[in-house]
Amino acid sequence: MRSHLCGEINETLDGQSVTLCGWVDRRRDLGGLIFISLRDHAGIVQVVAEPDSAAFAAAGRLRNEYCVRIRGVVRMRPASQWNESMATGKIEVLAAEVEVLNAAAPIPLLMTDEDGEEIRLRYRYLDLRRPRMQKNIRIRAKLNQSIHRHLDGRGFLEIETPILTRATPEGARDYLVPSRVQAGKFFALPQSPQLFKQLLMMAGMDRYYQIARCFRDEDLRADRQPEFTQLDMELSFVDEAGVQEVAEDLIRAVFSDVLAVKLPTPFTRMRWKDALENYGSDKPDLRYPMRLYSVDEHVSHVDFRVFSGPANADGQRVAALRVPGGADFSRKQIDQYTTFVARYGARGLAWIKVKDAAAGLAGLQSPIAKFLDDKAWKGIAAQTGVESGDLLFFGAGEWLQTSVFMGHLLVRCGQDLELSVAGWQPLWVTDFPMFEWDEDNHRYTAMHHPFTAPQADSADDLRAAPGGTLSRGYDMVLNGAEIGGGSIRIHKPEMQQAVFELLGIGKDEAEAKFGFLLEALRYGCPPHGGIAFGLDRIAALMAGEASIRDVIAFPKTTTAQCPLTDAPSVIATEQLDELHIEVKTPRDCS
Ligand code: AMO
Ligand code: AMP
Repeated sequence: MRSHLCGEINETLDGQSVTLCGWVDRRRDLGGLIFISLRDHAGIVQVVAEPDSAAFAAAGRLRNEYCVRIRGVVRMRPASQWNESMATGKIEVLAAEVEVLNAAAPIPLLMTDEDGEEIRLRYRYLDLRRPRMQKNIRIRAKLNQSIHRHLDGRGFLEIETPILTRATPEGARDYLVPSRVQAGKFFALPQSPQLFKQLLMMAGMDRYYQIARCFRDEDLRADRQPEFTQLDMELSFVDEAGVQEVAEDLIRAVFSDVLAVKLPTPFTRMRWKDALENYGSDKPDLRYPMRLYSVDEHVSHVDFRVFSGPANADGQRVAALRVPGGADFSRKQIDQYTTFVARYGARGLAWIKVKDAAAGLAGLQSPIAKFLDDKAWKGIAAQTGVESGDLLFFGAGEWLQTSVFMGHLLVRCGQDLELSVAGWQPLWVTDFPMFEWDEDNHRYTAMHHPFTAPQADSADDLRAAPGGTLSRGYDMVLNGAEIGGGSIRIHKPEMQQAVFELLGIGKDEAEAKFGFLLEALRYGCPPHGGIAFGLDRIAALMAGEASIRDVIAFPKTTTAQCPLTDAPSVIATEQLDELHIEVKTPRDCS
């Protein structure tokens, strides 16, 4: 139907006859001429219809988003009308024939970034016509292609695992599917293919990968969707370094293929404890040239309980954040930061403005300067390298909580002051604690998942100090986003049993839920490990989008709904009966 794509027309085709198909992006009637911006996935080209041409009347009837075919001749625009920002900006197509392939009803959205989320998703097929969304979806397809090409050449088998399965504990709620033939029983949609990929290693497949859909019923945010896509991988006979090398190579290859970006070799590595100590986050964004400093030794003697208390207590800290240029913050801004950190449980936020760094204590402006002496200030100033015009924020209290709120503050100040350095900052975060203590339920939970191997030689060693044991897990972080996570797995039944016990999963429950895994571990399971990448997150980073919704063709809203198909929906009583299900909520309330 067409000879060229709209975005391909340029000055090399001057004088040639072309036939183009696409959508009317805009129609303008100017001085007796009709200008049509014709759009397809490759770009936009200007078509002009002259009053004495056969195409003129048809062009006059076109409206936005009409689907049309236009035949015409390429000609140079006068140099005064060149649009250097458009690939097709030096030419236009003089229309000879305009054929309407399909008219469009008045378009219910603006088709710009001004459109709201709900309407964009309701008319997603129109929203996706926009150049921005075309670019995003194409970046994602290119990413997938690059992954296949890279892994297929490295001994990985692409293997599909079931969607109708049993619950896999990845820490979220399950989406359930009722069974019709097995009354009262349910499948769970996989939160990840974790157990199947481990079974594939036990099955001798050696290296597996899959671009796998995962389902998690959790609170949604910009970087979380109820169904999302992982690049899931598993390898036999590897240690941490083995998995990390393969994973890094892959990420370097896809960034090179898709964005022509060269990432460093090797990636930085940071222990979990150091990441929190120095950046207040387990996914530090190293684009911000800021870090936290533990100033405990300088304030342990001061007559200010807020500082001296934590400075002298085990498991607590006093952390300082130097904000370059922050001495210009108003009281109102500082109050806003105080409110901001309170969201993360901070009970206060101390601050010092450094008006004149050479003047010592006299050069400071701060409600807490009166509590400091020369020795304390000298120590703090030397450690943080603070200069005139800077501001120091201080957080004091329990180590993890203080680190985390100061870490959020670091990113927030970095964003507000636009301190981020352009580029890509990948790193590995390693040596996570094996378990987290859940205060509310008085039990341990797994920091990665229960199949992650501990850094312990035996089950008894682990039982002796569960709280202090680290895991063999690792996360890959890019520009402050956790883009992947994985671990070396437990491959011995005794260790797996011990981890279940420590997680409060009793023998019977373990047998009922994971009996098949425990059994499989008894038949010569190889040492193995792997990783899963959040493909949506990688695509969003590559596309420069803040939300993964903008790189998913048909995402859900933040309330886990699809406005386009109106899913989830009410089900007819007959169908529910077949599934042996009775709905408690009155139907008209749902
Ligand atoms: P994990 O739960 O860390 O590990 O998931 C791996 C990666 O998937 C992405 N991700 C998400 N992306 C979008 N929406 C979500 N709701 C969502 N949840 C997670 C993140 C994350 O790093 N089975 C293990 C992997 C393994 O051990 O090999 C797992 O699923 O980028
Ligand atoms: P207060 O003694 O509670 O009036 O606090 C004195 C100063 O210390 C105020 O500027 C508070 O914002 C600050 N502050 C209180 N608690 C903390 C904390 N946990 N970390 C940092 N600063 C705090």
